[in-house]
Amino acid sequence: MTTTPQFVTETGYDSLAEAAREHLWMHFTRHSVYYSGGHVPVIVKGEGPYIWDDQGNKYFDGLSGLFVVQLGHGRKELAAAAAKQAEELAFFPIWSYAHPGAIQLAERLANYAPGDLNRVFFTSGGGEAVETAWKLAKQYFKMTGKPTKHKVISRSIAYHGTPQGALSITGIPPAKVPFEPLVPGGVKVPNTNFYRAPEEYRTDEKAFGLWAANRIAEAIEFEGPDSVAAVFVEPVQNSGGCFPPPPGYLDRVREICDEYDVLMVADETITAFGRIGDMFAINRFGVTPDIITCAKGMTSGYSPMGAMIASDRLFEPFKTGTNAFLHGYTWGGHPVGAAVALANLDIFEREGINAHVQDNEDNFRRTLERLLDLPIVGDVRGAGYFYGIELVKDKQTRETFDEDEAERLLRGFLSKALFDNGLYCRADDRGDPVVQLAPPLIIGQPEFDEIEGKLRTVLTEAWSIL
Ligand SMILES: Cc1ncc(COP(=O)(O)O)c(C=O)c1O
Repeated sequence: MTTTPQFVTETGYDSLAEAAREHLWMHFTRHSVYYSGGHVPVIVKGEGPYIWDDQGNKYFDGLSGLFVVQLGHGRKELAAAAAKQAEELAFFPIWSYAHPGAIQLAERLANYAPGDLNRVFFTSGGGEAVETAWKLAKQYFKMTGKPTKHKVISRSIAYHGTPQGALSITGIPPAKVPFEPLVPGGVKVPNTNFYRAPEEYRTDEKAFGLWAANRIAEAIEFEGPDSVAAVFVEPVQNSGGCFPPPPGYLDRVREICDEYDVLMVADETITAFGRIGDMFAINRFGVTPDIITCAKGMTSGYSPMGAMIASDRLFEPFKTGTNAFLHGYTWGGHPVGAAVALANLDIFEREGINAHVQDNEDNFRRTLERLLDLPIVGDVRGAGYFYGIELVKDKQTRETFDEDEAERLLRGFLSKALFDNGLYCRADDRGDPVVQLAPPLIIGQPEFDEIEGKLRTVLTEAWSIL
C-alpha cells in the first residue's frame, strides 16, 4: 500500500467495495471499470437460490455462483459436515496415504460413473482435472508402447481451464494469446452449435452431428493417428452458450476414438452433479468415455474439490513394478472437501435432486422459450438446468452483433442491467453474444417465471437502446 487509507470502517476503507478495488485482484476482470465510477459488487449472504449484497439488495442467483451451488445457498448440513471434519482431521495428503473421506468419495464417484471408470484422482478444481487427464493420456501411451501419442483434440470456443495445458485445450483465442507459447499439441475442431451450423445442415440436427463428429476423425487423420492421445468434449458445451450434443454425436465420437485408439475425455466440470439431471451428464447420453473430469457441483461449493475419473484400462500399467503417475496436488482429496462432497451427495439422494431436474427441465425450457417472442432473442438452447439465450440483431437472417455493438450491449448494458434488476447470471461474448443460466437445482416453476420476467424486462430494454 503506497498511500495511507482512511480508517472509516473496520477494513480501513469507506466500504468493502473500495477495499476490493485497492487490494483484490478479481479473476477475468477489467479493473478499469472500478476506477471509472463502477462499484465492486460485494456479495455477503445466500439462502436457497437467492444472494444479498452488502447494501442489502437481494438477487436471484441464476448461475449458481459459477455453475457450482447445485443445492442452493445456506445449507447448514453442509457447513456442519465441513466443521465436523475440520475438528476430526483437518488435513492429510493422499500422497501414498489415505483418509476415510477420500476413500469413500472415490468409491462413490466410481459407482456413479459409467462403465469401468473406477479410478479417482482428486484435484482442487476443474482446470487441474483437465491438466491431469492430459498428463495421464500422455504417460499412459508412453507406458503402453505408443510413445508418440500426445496431442489433444477439442472444440472451438470450448473452455477447459487456465493451467497452461488446459489453456492449450481451450478453444477461445483471446484467452490464450497473452500466454503463448502454450503447451504444443492442442488441435481444434468445430463445436455443436446447431443454430450456427453450416447452411446445408440447418434443418437436420442428426446430419449436423455426424458432420461435426467426423471433423474429429478428419483432424486425427491430418495430425497423424500416432500423434493423437485424446479428444476432450463437454457433454453440453458451456462456452458459446450451452451447445447440447446432436443425436448420435457422442456415439460417433466414441466410435472414432475407438477406431484410432484415442482416449475420449468427457469434461464434466459443469455438467456433472445434477446440472443435466444425472450425476454425470454422459450417463444421460448413454456413452462411456475413458476419462471424466469434474469439480464444481461435487460439493455444491461448500468446499473446493475436483476429480479425474479414469477407466480400469488406464490404471492397469500403474499397478506394476516401479511405475507411478508422478503428479499430484497438496489440496487434492482434501478431507474437508471430501466430507462436504459426501454430505452433498447424500442430500442429492435424499431429496431426489436428479429426478427433480428431469421432472422440471421441460418446464424450464418452455418458460425460457417464451422469450423467443422478443426481437433480440435468436435461440434458446441447452439441457437440464443449463441454458443459453443467443441474442441477435436480425432474427430472420440470424445476423449477430459486430464487436462494438457486442461490447456496448453486453458490457455496457446487459450485465449491469440484469444485476440491477435482481438477476445474477452471465452475459457472454466468447462466441456470439449469449445470456447464460444455470440456476440452483432446487428451483421450480415459480422461480422459472421469476427468471423469465426479469430477462424479459431487461432484454426488451436492450433492444430499445440498440
Ligand atoms: C468445462 C470446464 N472445464 C474446466 C474448467 C476449469 O475449472 P476450474 O475453474 O475449477 O479450474 C471449467 C470452468 O468453468 C469448465 O467449465
